[in-house]
Amino acid sequence: MADADATATAFAVDADAFNRFQLAGWEARADSYAFFSPMTRRVGGALLAAACVAAGTEVLDVGAGPGDLAAAAADLGADTVGMDVAPSMVRRAALAHPAIPFRVGSFEQIPAGEGVFDAVVGNFVLNHVGRPELALREAARVLRPGGWLALSSWDAPHRNRLLGLMLDAVTAAGAAVPPGVPAGPVSYPSAAELRDSFLAAGFTDVGTSGIMFEAAVPDAATLWQGLLDSAVRVPAHVTAQPADVQARIRSAFDDLVAVHRRPGAGLAVPVSVLVTRGRRP
Ligand SMILES: C[S@@+](CC[C@H](N)C(=O)[O-])C[C@H]1O[C@@H](n2cnc3c(N)ncnc32)[C@H](O)[C@@H]1O
Repeated sequence: MADADATATAFAVDADAFNRFQLAGWEARADSYAFFSPMTRRVGGALLAAACVAAGTEVLDVGAGPGDLAAAAADLGADTVGMDVAPSMVRRAALAHPAIPFRVGSFEQIPAGEGVFDAVVGNFVLNHVGRPELALREAARVLRPGGWLALSSWDAPHRNRLLGLMLDAVTAAGAAVPPGVPAGPVSYPSAAELRDSFLAAGFTDVGTSGIMFEAAVPDAATLWQGLLDSAVRVPAHVTAQPADVQARIRSAFDDLVAVHRRPGAGLAVPVSVLVTRGRRP
């Protein structure tokens, strides 16, 4: 089986097809994304610190999803705007955080003028964008000179077992990439790849730090369903398969999960995240 990264290497990326696939996936997940939120929230403090967000900072949260990071920035006293490409996510965020303005927009074409933000932050969004190099240039464009961009991304699947378990189960089941899953940019860029991308977009003072923690999940069934409901690219490699292949993947998943069982305490799944920042000169 070719995983999402291998697919991107083997086939030319069709950025527009990838963006359409992502938009459709996220538009359908505004409610069910709740499974991931407790994990993504744990990265918010590091992102805001990396982007030097404090009271009075004018900050844009790109790919805001349900708005947790924007809300954390607002709690610090920052003047916060949230943006997401999926209208359903924007509606959900606006409902949850009525004091924060959220708008629909793409990271590839940020609906804002040049040099209007002190900070741009994004929690797990860059890997969902068909043209990440364009998104990074857009972030640089809307930042004031000296402003920081800070983005989180999932670490490699062998360290980030949250996604790695399902990816490895697909591989173990020998499943082929199903039709309708478009090749995209690298899903899990390394610190070196992230650094090169930030530098290519004109950022300086680029650095990446790692965050590791364990996600507490009651059982394998909850983890399986939570992943299907909260992610887009990884579950598409499962749900677009014939029923017998899906059953094989699920069986492999249950075997792989066993190592993370804690007696009487459900699962403790290792999560590994990279936070990269760069400054607009
Ligand atoms: C993994 S979720 C992260 C949500 C939120 N940042 C969090 O950490 O909970 C990815 C989000 O990025 C949004 N997204 C995907 N592609 C985007 C794009 N090109 N521009 C803006 N947002 C995008 C999705 O709609 C989704 O809400």
